[in-house]
Amino acid sequence: MTPATAHGPMAPVPYRVTDRHAETADTVTLALEPVEAAVPEPVPGQFTMMYVFGIGEAPISVSRVGPFRAVRGSRPARGRGPVLEQTVRAVGAVTRAVCGTRPGRVVGLRGPFGTGWGLDEARGCDLVLAAGGIGLAPLRPVVLRALSDRSAFGRISVLIGARTPDDLLFTSELDTWRAKGAQVEVTVDRPTPGWAGHVGLITALAGSVEVDPARAAAFICGPEVMMRLTAEALIGLGMCPADIRLSLERNMHCGLGWCGHCQLGPLLLCRDGPVLPYERAVPLMTVREL
Ligand SMILES: Cc1cc2nc3c(=O)[nH]c(=O)nc-3n(C[C@H](O)[C@H](O)[C@H](O)COP(=O)(O)OP(=O)(O)OC[C@H]3O[C@@H](n4cnc5c(N)ncnc54)[C@H](O)[C@@H]3O)c2cc1C
Ligand code: FES
Repeated sequence: MTPATAHGPMAPVPYRVTDRHAETADTVTLALEPVEAAVPEPVPGQFTMMYVFGIGEAPISVSRVGPFRAVRGSRPARGRGPVLEQTVRAVGAVTRAVCGTRPGRVVGLRGPFGTGWGLDEARGCDLVLAAGGIGLAPLRPVVLRALSDRSAFGRISVLIGARTPDDLLFTSELDTWRAKGAQVEVTVDRPTPGWAGHVGLITALAGSVEVDPARAAAFICGPEVMMRLTAEALIGLGMCPADIRLSLERNMHCGLGWCGHCQLGPLLLCRDGPVLPYERAVPLMTVREL
């Protein structure tokens, strides 16, 4: 379904940056509040097209949906929506501009777009959430929602991989996730002095996760090779491929299934993805030309 705004789905909705938190040297989380009208509330796994006026647009996952927070005496007005947080790694012109946006400035959002993780379908199951790098951003709303409804799920395992300890996201939250009942395991490719955690591939963590394979759902986001190998490790534990979902990325322009920029084989990822069942995603990921 095409999300509608007063000026149509291609018109960015103004959102004010109310908080900016540097997660790492190149990654920033912005808190965004609607200036007036809000976009419809995203479900975990969806993304918006984020527009920096005069620079351009990029698809960015929603990393948290929260209540309105008054900043500098502002008051919620009728029709305002929740705060959206989006966590952005600076890799090019648009993402550098997003990361440089200071509190008080206005950006545009369109959306939300795409399929969600399908967390409601996983109620009653063990959850395995595996993230590589910036892939933790679209999984954070799953963690937060599952922990706020803890009794609805079995074991919650969060497996996080990063290049170095300095590249880890949301570090101030990980102990809270543990205290609320999640098993959080972190591994890095290259340790720095003082690092006492795991070193190596996230697939090693996935291979030893405690899970009831008959009643489990796995959501994976990261580089494609990491997603494929993590899924294979979970299948090796007895998980059914149908219970594993991956989030894929391709260049996007419209977000609406109109322009074809995000085509992957027979799919338009802005509409049919980014979250796809393992069995649908993997045959497309392994074709070089796609
Ligand atoms: C559904 C979806 C959700 C996303 N969520 C997030 C998010 O939460 N946080 C975040 O930081 N990024 C996210 N991305 C990636 C983000 O959209 C790109 O980094 C951004 O479009 C790059 O735009 P740019 O103008 O800054 O850089 P460009 O100049 O367009 O690109 C700079 C470099 O990054 C590479 N690049 C561009 N897009 C991608 C991509 N999608 N994947 C891998 N490499 C890419 C280019 O090949 C180039 O080398 C998401 C992408 C998709 C499709
Ligand atoms: S981004 Fe235009 S069709 Fe998907």
